[in-house]
Amino acid sequence: MKTIAVLTGGGDCPGLNAVIRAVYKTAHSAGIAVYGVKNGFKGLVEDDLSLLDSENVSGILPRGGTILGTTNRDNPFRYQCIEHGKIVYKDMSQQILFNLKQRDIEALIVIGGDGTLKIASEIADLGFPIVGVPKTIDNDLPKTERTFGFDTAVSIATEALDRLHTTAESHHRVMILEVMGRYAGWIALHSGIAGGADCILIPEISFKWDSIIDKIKLRQQKGTLFSVIVVAEGAKTINGELSVAKIVNNSPEKIRLGGIGNKIAHELENLLAVECRSTVLGHLQRGGSPTAFDRVLATRYGEAAVNAIINKKFKTMVALQNNEIVLVNLIDVVGAPYLVSVTHDLIKTGRSLGISFGD
Ligand code: F6P
Repeated sequence: MKTIAVLTGGGDCPGLNAVIRAVYKTAHSAGIAVYGVKNGFKGLVEDDLSLLDSENVSGILPRGGTILGTTNRDNPFRYQCIEHGKIVYKDMSQQILFNLKQRDIEALIVIGGDGTLKIASEIADLGFPIVGVPKTIDNDLPKTERTFGFDTAVSIATEALDRLHTTAESHHRVMILEVMGRYAGWIALHSGIAGGADCILIPEISFKWDSIIDKIKLRQQKGTLFSVIVVAEGAKTINGELSVAKIVNNSPEKIRLGGIGNKIAHELENLLAVECRSTVLGHLQRGGSPTAFDRVLATRYGEAAVNAIINKKFKTMVALQNNEIVLVNLIDVVGAPYLVSVTHDLIKTGRSLGISFGD
């Protein structure tokens, strides 16, 4: 193995640069050259790649985002092109294979979440050697206990809850924090426990208005006039109502979630004689420097991905299981997301502590 390439796809997340650095350093020690692909699969289709060197990767370990750029729109199997002034979608997978061959690239490391890894798995099916690295703040990939970026997002959400607590207490208000996570409640669950939330609302447990109200009233009866609620963007009511910010037709993710925090604030103000405020944490959870945990995990993943390539363990993804880095089949990762089980240990812990999950 002489030459490989690395790309970052999907939404960015803290720790991407740490993986890129570890990939470069491990490969460099083994005498392997590494191309960095610009802007995810778009860079592969358009042959927008350049060789990484020690200067590119110097100082990037603590830096948020990705030095390679990313996109969550460009699927090479359904690639948007303009022909005769019209938008058409083309299968550019053969173009990708051609571009890789032209540069003598023998294997590809794909750092991404479910959408990106699904495309990676389809490219691997065409016979190109691929190893995946699990990335997402949502922690919703199966076969791994952790995706890098999650720990940072939880830390940011926890700090937000700490800050909301002091202002909630001063003003005797109900403060609601809306966090990301798509259809998984991992960020809400972990930050809710770490930040001492009174209610944690996650997509996996539909909530009833009465349950939230009962919890707030109970606290009021005990003389605690404030409450803090953390709600995942994908949380839904018992009637199955999701809060949709926008329908986006030209994106793989058709539904842009958002707005549940405001809805809860509005509803609770109507139903209870208490002032409510909602905060949407949004992309603050994705930006900035990774935590030490994410830097370590990202570094382990980057190193393991290169070693998987050296050992010819293709069509795999590096994963964390029992705190060990292992390889799992790429095909087993795509499809069904890893969601919070209602019997999860942290749910039990939360219930024992009197936290309401809205059910
Ligand atoms: O998957 C990561 C994530 O941040 C989700 O938690 C969120 O729903 C989504 O991406 C937001 O995507 P975008 O950056 O396209 O708004």
